Amino acid sequence: MRIIVCKDYEKMSDEAAKIVAAQLTLKPDSILGLATGSTPIGMYQRLIDMNKAGEIDFSKVKSFNLDEYYPIKADNNQSYRYFMNENLFNHVNIDINNTRVPNGEASDPVEEGKSYDAAIDAAGGIDLQILGIGRNGHIGFNEPDENLIMGTHRTMLTQDTIEANSRLFNSIDEVPTQAITMGMVSILKSKMIVLLANGKNKHEAVKKLLDDTITTSNPATFLKTHPNVVIICDEECYNG
Ligand code: PGA
Repeated sequence: MRIIVCKDYEKMSDEAAKIVAAQLTLKPDSILGLATGSTPIGMYQRLIDMNKAGEIDFSKVKSFNLDEYYPIKADNNQSYRYFMNENLFNHVNIDINNTRVPNGEASDPVEEGKSYDAAIDAAGGIDLQILGIGRNGHIGFNEPDENLIMGTHRTMLTQDTIEANSRLFNSIDEVPTQAITMGMVSILKSKMIVLLANGKNKHEAVKKLLDDTITTSNPATFLKTHPNVVIICDEECYNG
């Protein structure tokens, strides 16, 4: 596991975008694993700028997002599909048909999970997975628990996650309590993983990721089993 500590959020977003750009240069038909949340927004802005400047090309890229609230309609402005369209897909030359987000309207979430993992495998597996981290160590919506689930599945959000996400809703009662998330193995099968974290409120999560032994009560610790993980964080996050 490598750690890149950047001066601030802007520099961190630059470094993350450079890695994605290098990936697309080396393999124009890359399979990207993408994340929502506040953390990757700066990276997405830079990727949009690079695409507009003709420096990177998304025309052959396929993407799979980590998670989606459940149930939620794709056109709900709180959905992760909506977030991705607004923050990246609508502004770059990606074919929207090549972008996949778990279907928050699926009538059968078990089937949705199976077909999601099958689609990732059929595409050849994720080349580069972008991750955020929850204050509780979740990756995707794999929340701390006695057992972690391997494949894409429906899950309950923990109270900590509901509270953290309530900042984006009018009230905490509006935050969905369930999600469909890529599972731990779905994530760990990615060839390379870049985890982004910024700000003091992620200090504990990153410290525990680095210090803890591998434990299901801190899902991010499983990243230690992966041969190619880069953590990019800012000084506030690293130093606390
Ligand atoms: P954030 O979410 O980027 O909004 O902090 C990250 C996460 O919960 O995984």
